[in-house]
Amino acid sequence: MVSNYCFKITNKQQRLGKDKTFFIRTYGCQANERDSEIIKAILLKIGFKEIKDFNKNVDLVILNTCAIRQNAENKVFGLLEQLKKKKETRKIKYFGICGCVAQQPQIIKRLKVKISNIDFFMGTNNIIDLPHILEMVMLKDKQVSRIDKMKSALVENWPNYRETRHKALVNIMYGCNHYCSYCIVPYVRGPIRSRTKENILDEVKCLIKNGCKEITLLGQNVNSYGIDLKQNYTFANLLEDVAKTKIPRIRYATSNPWNFTKEIIDVMAKYKNIMPYIHLPIQSGDETILKLMNRTMKVKDFIALIKYARKKIPCLTVSTDLIVGFPNETNKQFRKTLKLYKKIKFDNAYTFIYSARPNTPASKIIDKVALKTKQKRLTKLNKLVKKYSKWNNNKYITNVVQVLVDGQSKTNKNIFTGYSHNWKVVNFVGQAKIGDIVNVKITSSSLFSLNGEKISC
Ligand code: SAH
Ligand code: F3S
Repeated sequence: MVSNYCFKITNKQQRLGKDKTFFIRTYGCQANERDSEIIKAILLKIGFKEIKDFNKNVDLVILNTCAIRQNAENKVFGLLEQLKKKKETRKIKYFGICGCVAQQPQIIKRLKVKISNIDFFMGTNNIIDLPHILEMVMLKDKQVSRIDKMKSALVENWPNYRETRHKALVNIMYGCNHYCSYCIVPYVRGPIRSRTKENILDEVKCLIKNGCKEITLLGQNVNSYGIDLKQNYTFANLLEDVAKTKIPRIRYATSNPWNFTKEIIDVMAKYKNIMPYIHLPIQSGDETILKLMNRTMKVKDFIALIKYARKKIPCLTVSTDLIVGFPNETNKQFRKTLKLYKKIKFDNAYTFIYSARPNTPASKIIDKVALKTKQKRLTKLNKLVKKYSKWNNNKYITNVVQVLVDGQSKTNKNIFTGYSHNWKVVNFVGQAKIGDIVNVKITSSSLFSLNGEKISC
C-alpha cells in the first residue's frame, strides 16, 4: 500500500520566481501533459510568469521529454542544441530536462558531456523536488540531478493549474508493471501505483464545481487500476463511480485489450456520460508477434471483444495503435495486421515503425528486416487507415452530433472546432463559446474530421 508525500514550499523558495519568466515545452503522451500542468502550477506558485514565445529572452526553460521511440528522443536532442546556443548568448538563464528521457542514467551521462550547460535533470517521480532543485540552481549555482529510483509514495496536494477549464486530465494511476517487450514505460515510469478512489472522486467533484465538462481518466493501462491497492475495486467500479458524479463527459486512456473486461463495456453501456469511444491498442494482427511482444492475445478474442462492445454500445467508435516491423516480422505476419484492420474497420489508428528501446527485451533480438521494408509496410497500412477513417466519417453526414467546443478558427471567426462524443474532430459554422456543448448537423466529412453547422435544437 502506498503512502502519501506532502508537497511543501519553504519561505525562501516562495520568492524564487519573482520577476522571472519560464517557458515549458512538452513532448509525448497525456501523462506528460498532466505533469507539465503540475510543473507550471509549482512555477506560478513561486512567482514565475509563463511566456509562450520561445524566441523571447526567458529566465527558465524546461523540456518535458518523451522516450517512447527513438524519433521522440531525437526531437529533444535537436532542441537541446538550440538551447545550448541560447544559453551561451544569455537569452536563457537556466534550463532543465525532465520526463522520460531524463529518467535514463545512460542518456544523462551522455548529455552531461555533450551539453555541459544543462542546469538540472529531474526524474519522472521528482517533480515534488522542483522548488529545491531551483533553489540549488538559482541560489547556489549548482548543476543538479534528481532522478530517484521509483518512489512508491504518491503526492495528493499539488498546487492547482489546468490548461483549460472545460476539459481536464485526471491521473488515476502511475506506472506500469506489464513489460511489453518493446516498451520503455515500465523502466522510466516505474511500477503501478494507483490513487485511491476517494482522492480521484474528490478531484473530479472539484473539477465539476469549477465548470469542467469533460475529464479523461489517465493511466498507462487503466484496466490494471487498483491491482496494487488489493481492495477488490476495479477500473470498471471506478468508472461507474465517476459516472455517478454526473460530470457531462468521461473518457479514459489507455486500455490495453488483453485485460480489457466486459464489465468495463457494461458500465460504458449503462451511463450516457461515458463517451462511446474506446482506444484499444492491439499492435499487431499476428499472434506470434503478439506473443513476442508479451501481449499474448488471440486475435479471435479481440474480434469477439469488439463485437460484444459494438452490440452493447451501437454508436461506439474504436481506434487502435499498431507497430509495424517488430523484429523479424514477416510479410505474412504483416498482412495479418492488414487483415485484422479490414475486419474491424477501425475509426482511426496511430501507426508506428518499431523502434528499439534501451534495456527492453525486444531490443536484444537481432532484426533482419530492412528499414525500407518497414517503411513500405507503414505506407501500406496508413493507406488503409485513411480509407477506413473516411469510410467511417461518411456515416455521420446528415446526423446531428454534440460537440464540446475547444476553439475558434484563427482565420474565420464564424468557424469553431471541438470533439463529438465519438472523438471525431468537428469543425462547424455558427457562434459558440469555448466550453459550450452544442448540436452540430454534419454536412460533409474529411479524412480525419467532420464539417457541419450549428443548429439550435
Ligand atoms: N501504455 C501506453 C503506451 C503508450 S505508447 C498506452 O497504451 O497508452 C503509445 C503507443 O506507442 C503504443 O501503443 C505503441 O503502439 C507505440 N510504441 C510503444 N513503444 C514503441 C516502440 N518501441 N516502437 C514503436 N512504437 C512503440
Ligand atoms: Fe507499455 Fe505495455 Fe505497459 S505498452 S505502458 S508495458 S501495458
